[in-house]
Amino acid sequence: MNERLQLGIIGAGRIGKLHAQNIMHLIPEAKIKILADILAEQDQIKNWAKDLGIPRITTDYRELLTDPEIGAVVICSSTDTHADLIIAAARAGKHIFCEKPIDLSAAKIKTALQAVKEANVKLQIGFNRRFDHNHRSVKEAVLAGKIGEPQLIQITSRDPAPPPLEYVKVSGGLFLDMTIHDFDMARFLAGSEVVAVYAAGGVLVDPAIGAAGDIDTAVVTLKFANGAIGVINNSRQAAYGYDQRVEVFGSKGSVLDRNDTPSTAVISTAAGVVGEKPRYFFLERYNESFVNEMKAFVAAVLTGQATPVGGFDGLQSVLIARAALKSLAENRPVKIEEID
Ligand SMILES: NC(=O)c1ccc[n+]([C@@H]2O[C@H](COP(=O)([O-])OP(=O)(O)OC[C@H]3O[C@@H](n4cnc5c(N)ncnc54)[C@H](O)[C@@H]3O)[C@@H](O)[C@H]2O)c1
Repeated sequence: MNERLQLGIIGAGRIGKLHAQNIMHLIPEAKIKILADILAEQDQIKNWAKDLGIPRITTDYRELLTDPEIGAVVICSSTDTHADLIIAAARAGKHIFCEKPIDLSAAKIKTALQAVKEANVKLQIGFNRRFDHNHRSVKEAVLAGKIGEPQLIQITSRDPAPPPLEYVKVSGGLFLDMTIHDFDMARFLAGSEVVAVYAAGGVLVDPAIGAAGDIDTAVVTLKFANGAIGVINNSRQAAYGYDQRVEVFGSKGSVLDRNDTPSTAVISTAAGVVGEKPRYFFLERYNESFVNEMKAFVAAVLTGQATPVGGFDGLQSVLIARAALKSLAENRPVKIEEID
């Protein structure tokens, strides 16, 4: 790969800044030519983009789409913009990396995926956890047949602290905002599609989250097409930090991973044995996975190969999340085929 891919990036918030920094500092095969953000005239964005060496910034994303040198766009704006931006980028013939979720509505996602198909461009969805060194090792052990046929998938996914209430109100709720990563991880590890979901949820962390119409604690049971069963447990607040562990149990054994810690030092005294807490949150814990997923996208565009996680995956995770919402509301197991 001698060619350098010119990218346009849309959205310079939390995740857009992270991807932009990774691309400019750590991915020599790609370069950002234009950044678009509706707040691009604010000094904090202007100065940050200039320091990073991004040549042009604009408030209008259409500038990226009409620039013939730009081969692909990275969509990092708020969720409600993703589907329309995917459609516009596909029609402009640009390959697309889009943050999760594609949209909160399955119908809108299907329309966006149709535009991608018609334009024959590549689409990768930001399920970064598939590129995490721990979870990937678990997946590789399963693929190598070390634990036999997967029978149980267990995912623990707990945040260190809830997001701001303003974020909660527009996020689509716990299942579509947070558990969506776990739904994708469950499919990834099981190597099979989820066919039915049963969800229990509660407000145990902050009553204000309940007042905003959301939950902060949940257990979701999944049934897979291959007969395997999965359990995901979520909390918006773990007192000891970001808790991210998975296990696959199978006919020949089990494979599990542990949390990453800043160091592996363990202090043993008469009072007890103490190690470090997990790395604080997703920026610290999953940073390497964000670099890996973007490298994989750039490589797919430059070599013409398929992206490792695409539109179908983006749709499935939203269908599972919607089934979980329905299950919670109706207090019964819900089949994925009931969701449209
Ligand atoms: N993969 C992950 O782990 C992960 C982590 C965080 C966020 N996300 C996803 O990334 C997306 C952005 O989240 P965030 O936390 O960075 O949000 P944010 O609010 O910090 O940033 C969004 C940015 O997009 C800009 N924007 C909004 N509409 C725009 C438009 N039409 N054109 C150009 N710019 C526009 C806003 O001005 C803002 O700067 C969300 O969909 C979220 O679900 C994914």
